[in-house]
Amino acid sequence: MKENAVILGIETSCDETAAAVVRNGREVLSNIVFSQIDIHKIYGGVVPEIASRSHIEKITNVVRQALDKAGTQASQLDAVAVTNAPGLVGALLVGVSFAKAFAYGLNKPLIAVNHIEAHICANYIENMECKPPFVCMVVSGGHTHLIYVNEYGRYEVLGRTRDDAAGEAFDKVARTLGLNYPGGIAVERLAQSGDAYEIDFPKAKLEEGSLDFSFSGLKSAVINYMNTAKMAGRDVNKADVAASFQRAVVEVLVRKAMDACERCGCNEFALAGGVACNGVLRAAFEKACREKGIKLFAPRVVYCTDNAAMVASSAYWAYLRNDFADMALNAKPSGRI
Ligand code: KG4
Ligand code: ZN
Repeated sequence: MKENAVILGIETSCDETAAAVVRNGREVLSNIVFSQIDIHKIYGGVVPEIASRSHIEKITNVVRQALDKAGTQASQLDAVAVTNAPGLVGALLVGVSFAKAFAYGLNKPLIAVNHIEAHICANYIENMECKPPFVCMVVSGGHTHLIYVNEYGRYEVLGRTRDDAAGEAFDKVARTLGLNYPGGIAVERLAQSGDAYEIDFPKAKLEEGSLDFSFSGLKSAVINYMNTAKMAGRDVNKADVAASFQRAVVEVLVRKAMDACERCGCNEFALAGGVACNGVLRAAFEKACREKGIKLFAPRVVYCTDNAAMVASSAYWAYLRNDFADMALNAKPSGRI
């Protein structure tokens, strides 16, 4: 075992085929992402069967490119890491099967990575300062979690969404507003010309002190607002709807995240996941953290959305713990952190 480790990460849990080579969990030597967005766009969302087939077509080339770009021979790798949970089962299986065969053929250790954990580890990339303990909020298309990171690889879930993930709500609201998939970026763009205080959409009220989230009520309120206006033949300013919805989501996320920091007595906080690309959300967190004296970490946008550098980073800490998988490794579509 050596502390200096070069790890190949592979990610195929949803609609990105990705491979990356990362040294010691923080230094990215290459990061290749083939996004299937254009393929799924015409269906308005990810079609699982098409996702699996596309991963099969792309994975060999994506891994080859990652090794070439890094200037690393496969034989020089210290380990092969792959996302095996959670995600679309057929999509996960492509990465898991590839990684098992690749590791076996090279006689290298295999490391299984949880996708939510990988999103958290995106904060270590290119950042020597981000070290546990800290509170992290993972906000993506599939997850909305508040997590206390005790130490590398040790997590305590403080709260999670009880229904839709924040990104899922963005995607569904986008569809209601007639915007393209993926909806998050489209809603953010439209919201730029809207008034965020024009409509007061209701926010879910959970039990006092709960750090869980619920976005389905807010999503339904937007859909009802649009339907009611349509039936009444009333014109709607869609930019105002987008901006008001976005404000409601951001306000809830910031409030619960700050509560979580207070509860843990922690003054370091990290953002993660695709929704963390949102500029309004980032600005709101910068302001809230500044006011509370909390140090804020946020990965670069390329490391917020699905990528394999975060998988290889997460695997590094498992590598140091000798936490390896064997050839019985399987995909776990609902695997929890
Ligand atoms: O982390 P990610 O790439 O995949 C999952 O693990 O789900 O996150 C994708 C999600 C999508 O729901 C997308 O609409 C959302 O992140 N997203 C955004 C923005 N960019 C991506 N949501 C709000 N604002 C954005 N700028
Ligand atoms: Zn993700």
